[in-house]
Amino acid sequence: MALHAAALHAAVLSVADVAEPESLIVAIDGTSGVGKSTVARQLAARLGVPVLDTGATYRAVALEVLEHGVDLEDRVAVLEAAAQAELELRPTADGGFDVLLGAHPVGQRIRTQEVSDATSKISVHPEIRQRLVEVQRQTAARYGAVVEGRDIGSVVFPHTPHKFFLHARPEVRAERRHAELLAAGQAASLGDVLHDIEARDARDSGREVSPLVCDESYHPIDTSDLSVAEIVEQMATEIDLGRERRRSSTG
Ligand code: DC
Repeated sequence: MALHAAALHAAVLSVADVAEPESLIVAIDGTSGVGKSTVARQLAARLGVPVLDTGATYRAVALEVLEHGVDLEDRVAVLEAAAQAELELRPTADGGFDVLLGAHPVGQRIRTQEVSDATSKISVHPEIRQRLVEVQRQTAARYGAVVEGRDIGSVVFPHTPHKFFLHARPEVRAERRHAELLAAGQAASLGDVLHDIEARDARDSGREVSPLVCDESYHPIDTSDLSVAEIVEQMATEIDLGRERRRSSTG
């Protein structure tokens, strides 16, 4: 069966179509396991806007694809399964968004290693990305948000003046992820976790569509030796300075 773009509700918007948003949009991009989620949550609370974890939208689509039991290397089958995902983002009372599939919150089902691996494979497909970018733009533009992912400053909100790129040494990220897995009761060796992180880095940075890239429009932060509070402080200061600069240049 041919896959029709309409079936994916894929609204193709070029960068030029996306005006600078009225609401406060903070873009946070960076590698896997760099601490984006924690930092984004705390920064959002401080700024009084919700946090949007775009990885969760890709994970939800990967979960749908896995539930169809298709071969992840079979592009057509993956796209057909992905098109079945009835995805919805619903604001939560604690300043985030629940990701729903077919009206059911996905919860922790999207946080397994199997889903992580599948996500980095299905997220290479432009058809899937276009659909999710559209959902992310609409949601964040409506509420204002700290948006975290891989292509937020480059593709989803290229015109926001508040862009951060978080990175950290792979060994540091592997140790953090390993501790998280152990705390969640999932057994894994540190070596395997490091190997997995390096493989995901290569896929996220090497893919043809929306690769993870840091250019001069970003404020880069190496989080290896910083606490979460220190990172959030740096970002909040930078955002204040940016707003101040813009006020004085427009006023
Ligand atoms: O941030 P995370 O680990 O939940 O992301 C899961 C996967 O989704 C990861 O392989 C990168 C991909 N992703 C993406 O391609 N674009 C985004 N905006 C967010 C995540």
